[in-house]
Amino acid sequence: YATGRPCFCFAFFILTLHLAYGDLSYSIPEEMKRESLIGNAAKDLGLDLRTLASRQARVDFGGNHKRYCEINRSTGDLITSERIDRESLCGKKPSCVVKVDLVLENPLELHRVSLHIQDINDNSPKFKKHLIEMEIRESAERGNRFSIEEAHDADIGQNAVQRYTLQKNDNFILAVDSNKVELVLENKLDREKQKEMNLLLTALDGGSPQRSGTVVIHVTVLDANDNAPVFSQAVYKASLPENSPLDTVVITVKDDENVFSIDSKTGEIRVTGVIDFEERSSFEMRVQAKDGLGLTSYSKVMIDVTDINDNAPVIYLKSLSNPVPENVSPNTEVGIINVQDRDSETNGQVRCSIQQGVPFKLVPSIKNYYSLVTTGQLDRELVSDYNITVTATDEGSPPLSSSKAVQLSVADINDNPPVFEEQSYSAYVSENNKPGSTLCSVTARDPDWRQNGTVIYSVLPGEVNGAPVSSYVSVNGDTGVIHAVRSFDHEQFRSFKVHVMARDNGSPPLSSNVSVSVFISDVNDNSPQILYPAPEGKSLMTELVPKAAHGGSLVSKVIAVDADSGQNAWLSYHIVKSTDPGLFTIGVHSGEIRTQRDISESDSMKQNLIVAVKDNGQPSLSATCSMYLLISDNLAEVPELKDISYDEKNSKLTSYLIIALVCVSTFFLTFIIIILGVRFCRRRKPRLFAYLPPNYADVDGTGTLRSTYNYDAYLTTGSRTSDFKFVTSYSDNTLPADQTLRKSPTDFVDPFEDLDPSVEVGAVHKHL
Ligand SMILES: *[C@@H]1O[C@H](CO)[C@@H](O)[C@H](O)[C@H]1NC(C)=O
Ligand SMILES: *[C@@H]1O[C@H](CO)[C@@H](O)[C@H](O)[C@H]1NC(C)=O
Ligand SMILES: *[C@@H]1O[C@H](CO)[C@@H](O)[C@H](O)[C@H]1NC(C)=O
Ligand SMILES: *[C@@H]1O[C@H](CO)[C@@H](O)[C@H](O)[C@H]1NC(C)=O
Repeated sequence: YATGRPCFCFAFFILTLHLAYGDLSYSIPEEMKRESLIGNAAKDLGLDLRTLASRQARVDFGGNHKRYCEINRSTGDLITSERIDRESLCGKKPSCVVKVDLVLENPLELHRVSLHIQDINDNSPKFKKHLIEMEIRESAERGNRFSIEEAHDADIGQNAVQRYTLQKNDNFILAVDSNKVELVLENKLDREKQKEMNLLLTALDGGSPQRSGTVVIHVTVLDANDNAPVFSQAVYKASLPENSPLDTVVITVKDDENVFSIDSKTGEIRVTGVIDFEERSSFEMRVQAKDGLGLTSYSKVMIDVTDINDNAPVIYLKSLSNPVPENVSPNTEVGIINVQDRDSETNGQVRCSIQQGVPFKLVPSIKNYYSLVTTGQLDRELVSDYNITVTATDEGSPPLSSSKAVQLSVADINDNPPVFEEQSYSAYVSENNKPGSTLCSVTARDPDWRQNGTVIYSVLPGEVNGAPVSSYVSVNGDTGVIHAVRSFDHEQFRSFKVHVMARDNGSPPLSSNVSVSVFISDVNDNSPQILYPAPEGKSLMTELVPKAAHGGSLVSKVIAVDADSGQNAWLSYHIVKSTDPGLFTIGVHSGEIRTQRDISESDSMKQNLIVAVKDNGQPSLSATCSMYLLISDNLAEVPELKDISYDEKNSKLTSYLIIALVCVSTFFLTFIIIILGVRFCRRRKPRLFAYLPPNYADVDGTGTLRSTYNYDAYLTTGSRTSDFKFVTSYSDNTLPADQTLRKSPTDFVDPFEDLDPSVEVGAVHKHL
């Protein structure tokens, strides 16, 4: 204990600790040096030393009073922060208590600390004047008493004036009682012997060490006089409302500083200064009456000031957790409010409230303290700021009130996942789109604050047709715009689905996902493909038409498919060129070639048709094919049918023929006659072969018709059946009228020389 006056202070420093209501009470002597130890509040309250700093432990004072003490957050010690002078703080009050609050936050905790300031003997008794003049008649009798103004000591109790001593003299002794000090005449005065005298009066206090003050009483002995004035009462008491107007007559009777004045004639005491109950609730004055000849008498006037309700309550926000996270549970304390009213009794009784309609309430705590607690769940996304008005009203009459606005913000918690504006999204794109083209855009909203509400988009991993989704689409993470990564092919797939995730940037992040369906619409990018008759050379075929065929007989059928869909695959068939334009027609939609009239003998045996197949796209695409027809009942009748072999054989044969030709040329002249003779006799039997349209697997292998539905849907009806029937009937070597017979085109080279040269014909045989 480091006050520098250990023994002295020890006598007064009786530590009295009350833990009632979690409060502390310490007794300390006044006038301690700054930073003297008062006590260890942490230990006395059982607080964890380590949390003092984090909990912002501090000493709080109501209003703008001086700070008397503070807490050392590392030791928990309460130490004085300035010198405390009991006399200026409490005057003559027998007990002097300074109340401070010890506040801790998280959770908010408040302890009242009462500092009982003990008096020390730091003031000496003092007389108002150094010299008291007295005039006493010669005729004064033994036992007469003469009042002397008392000495004053600012200390209290034992440290105040305890006794007086009068310097030894021949005439006077001292008489002291509680209210006055008097000189008592013991031996009569004799003006002829001594006209005047000086008496030394000493006032002593009871402190240790003892202090004293002196005054010289100068007594002048007078010749003769009337009676000295006498007060009607030894003590006058009056009660005076504070704020009393000037000139209020308090009591009719001398005076206290500048606050009162006394009318020297009538003895009326008037108010000349500000009377404030809160500053001073009582006055004590010594009143002197003096007659014309200088005889004096003294009396005391005690004035009690009564309180009126002139102070409105003052609201102090002691602590506030601002901002408050939106996820705090109901009944969480967010602030502490203290209300003070300087008035007394009911004038100082205060009621405190806040407005309706906010999720907060005030819960009274210890006297004049209120906790501001939440009453429900907060939601920053609904209300992010509160303006709480605290109103305090006292119970005076009329009551006074005041209010204070408390601003409270709600801090964000990442409690909302991003939410897409739509349940699902669809994007429509034409096939053959440019890579990078925009498909659609998705938007998700997140009402949280800053990064907790910042939405980032991404495509969830997955597969489309066995390839990663990322090779089909990408999404702009910031804008949600979805782009195609590649060009799509309707013939490959017509739609696919991807999942896009929206994630916020909180920690931990929240997310949601949405499905995006991409529909690829068809573009007429595939020409019709003719399956029968076989396209482009190699093996041209010939249909056999019976001579007896009537008008309307089915002769053949063009079979075509289109890989596109809808209108783009809707095929129509037209004959664009024919040997005999009136003989055959083609079904516009069926592709069936029928005779238009009966076959007559005059019709050419060999008929050729060029058929165009068009789709219905915009613009439309088309393909053409040649159809070779032979009007005959018997293959044996067919003239000029050549030996048939496949191209591969032909080329090989051609080589042999060239070699043979060289030989033949060499012996040309020699054997010309023989050769001519042989040539007339030479005849070959026609050979037939079955033709099958390219099988579907082949078509599929090219990659243009991968999905079988394309094929099935647009293949002209009946084609398979007729192909199958043909093979069967050929094996049986019977040919019903409506059936067709196919032959190698090489058999018909010569007859068709006059037709469209663009129609490619298989390798030509030289007729040897
Ligand atoms: C608290 O007490 C410690 C130990 O006595 C001292 O070192 C430190 O300076 C004090 N802190 C304050 C703020 O007074
Ligand atoms: C809060 O309320 C007080 C009193 O009603 C008002 O003066 C103040 O402007 C308000 N502040 C806000 C931010 O609304
Ligand atoms: C986001 O939310 C977290 C808790 O989920 C919170 O700690 C953080 O402060 C919030 N961020 C902002 C910018 O409000
Ligand atoms: C996508 O969202 C659904 C519900 O909306 C959820 O069940 C699923 O787990 C989510 N998927 C991912 C990968 O987040």
